[in-house]
Amino acid sequence: MLSEIIEALNPKIGGKFIDCTLGGAGYTMAIAKMVGAKGKVLGIDLDVNALKNASQKIKDSKLKNVILAQGNFRNLKELAVENFSEKQKFDGIVFDLGLSSFQLDDESRGFSFKGERPLNMAFGPKSENDTISIINNYPLLELTRIFREYGEERMAYQIAKAIVDARRTKRIEKTSDLVSIIEDKIPLRFRTKIHPATRIFQALRMETNTELKNLEEVLPSAIALLKKGGILAVVSFHSGEDRIVKWFLRNNLEVNILTKKPLIPCAQEAAENPRARSAKLRVATKL
Ligand SMILES: C[S@@+](CC[C@H](N)C(=O)[O-])C[C@H]1O[C@@H](n2cnc3c(N)ncnc32)[C@H](O)[C@@H]1O
Repeated sequence: MLSEIIEALNPKIGGKFIDCTLGGAGYTMAIAKMVGAKGKVLGIDLDVNALKNASQKIKDSKLKNVILAQGNFRNLKELAVENFSEKQKFDGIVFDLGLSSFQLDDESRGFSFKGERPLNMAFGPKSENDTISIINNYPLLELTRIFREYGEERMAYQIAKAIVDARRTKRIEKTSDLVSIIEDKIPLRFRTKIHPATRIFQALRMETNTELKNLEEVLPSAIALLKKGGILAVVSFHSGEDRIVKWFLRNNLEVNILTKKPLIPCAQEAAENPRARSAKLRVATKL
């Protein structure tokens, strides 16, 4: 939703922005080009590989006004203070939540259910939970809860039960082990165009990275770091994330909501990029 984001943020020469989810640096570089040499963009990501990759792209494009920082956006205040003066306020802060296509394709990690990959769904080098221990140690009802809440999976209990039964005989360590357990459990009549493992993988990724908690914690700091008239833009891909953003904005007296209903991608973007289909953009300005 790059064009919608740029339209919402409306970066001007000399502007200061934070991209809390750097990823492939698409948003960061687009903003950096617009704010010119006097402006600055701080790009944050938990993922060391994403930072390396972005750093090369930024170097190749000769942009000198981007600062990159490794860290969890949950600690936004600290990351901003480490890289700017304590009093610095920003013209815009953007979030493009979830995972990047680069992470999905990374065979050393387990974000995709294709192939035989280690079950590691952490964005960063350290995460609060690790995916293998979630799968092998969480009690049945806790697994059911995350599959239901984060995966919106109708067969959450049945799949959790199949995992608990399977791990009694063999520790589950590879994505392929998990995929076979799920495929065996979902009858053909319940299969849709979406692979049955998609929702379970999403749930495990969200639990591994405590994604909803990070979002809840960062939103007040993001507003505090904005100038008057500064813009907050959040692209979410999950109904739980969108609900957090919606209610945070509705209950916040310091903001004016610019998107009464969330913006969704245009038909062309949705057709070209399946992941974009569930994207929702909410934008607000600080009063
Ligand atoms: C959807 S991608 C962003 C894509 C980016 N807008 C672009 O133009 O390429 C999301 C990125 O956010 C990062 N991320 C997710 N949660 C994070 C968190 N709590 N703190 C820092 N980075 C996070 C992921 O590692 C991933 O690289």
